Amino acid sequence: MIKKAIILCGGTGSRMFPVTKAVNKQLLPVFDKPMFYYPLSLLMLSGIKEFIFIINKGQKENFLNALGNVDDLGIKVEFVVQSKPRGLPDAFVISEKLIMNESVAMVLGDNFFYGSMLSPIIKNSLKNHKGCNIYLYPSNNTSAYGVVEFNSKNKIKRIVEKPKRTDSNLIITGLYVFDKEVSKYAKKLKPSKRGEIEMVDLINIYKKLNKLNIVKLGRGSAWMDVGNFNDLHSANNFIQNIESRQNYKIGCLEEIAFNNKWITKENLKNRLKQNKINFYSNYLKNLITSK
Ligand code: G1P
Repeated sequence: MIKKAIILCGGTGSRMFPVTKAVNKQLLPVFDKPMFYYPLSLLMLSGIKEFIFIINKGQKENFLNALGNVDDLGIKVEFVVQSKPRGLPDAFVISEKLIMNESVAMVLGDNFFYGSMLSPIIKNSLKNHKGCNIYLYPSNNTSAYGVVEFNSKNKIKRIVEKPKRTDSNLIITGLYVFDKEVSKYAKKLKPSKRGEIEMVDLINIYKKLNKLNIVKLGRGSAWMDVGNFNDLHSANNFIQNIESRQNYKIGCLEEIAFNNKWITKENLKNRLKQNKINFYSNYLKNLITSK
């Protein structure tokens, strides 16, 4: 079982200037929560309790404020400052000491996942893990993402970043699991044309070694990279729609921790004290009284 995960919350957020000039992208609201709550909630739902946040210089205080007291969430967080955006796999280089020679998951702080079947699928993929796991999702916008192409025998043909043309509709989402060799391989990567080291190059190393596992996320699930204004807007509407119709919250960290039996009602009450009266705190109050 994978115990630790990295959450990527660094980067310049340049696609979202001027909004992200003063505020870190992953702290922006996505409907009623900060953006990074959603990928964090996915991993908590999958049973992971220890998190390494990769952040920009000067941002630790902001993330701590957004998280509140994590002891009341039953999780542990550590922070690693990335001085320069050198590319996503750099996370494995700068957090090598904290990974402590174990397999580790990584999720991008701007990726939104939703679907009742997701956490069982992901949980299962974290058991007896070997090599590298990537999670694929069908998309009509393949030129914006990493893409996996298959041959007629359903074997992986090519893994490529942002292809202009491809016969595949399966993109690589921002959730990954790697074995303990990952930092060693990440150090060997050379920058691509866009001047950064790339996830697909790291994944291709595992492909060559025959250690790459593919997990397809079903079409009944939702995935969005909300690091651009159109998809952020879609995610806002999506979450608002589901939450207002069902009266359940998506990505409520307290609810997940409570259902996982990581925290007690006392912890919920502590969290409640940290929230002013609003509809989020009303939701927490209902959790306390309903169970
Ligand atoms: C990154 C990865 C890409 C992946 C995407 C998912 O893209 O490089 O392979 O499909 O995240 O969100 P970037 O956000 O750097 O453009």
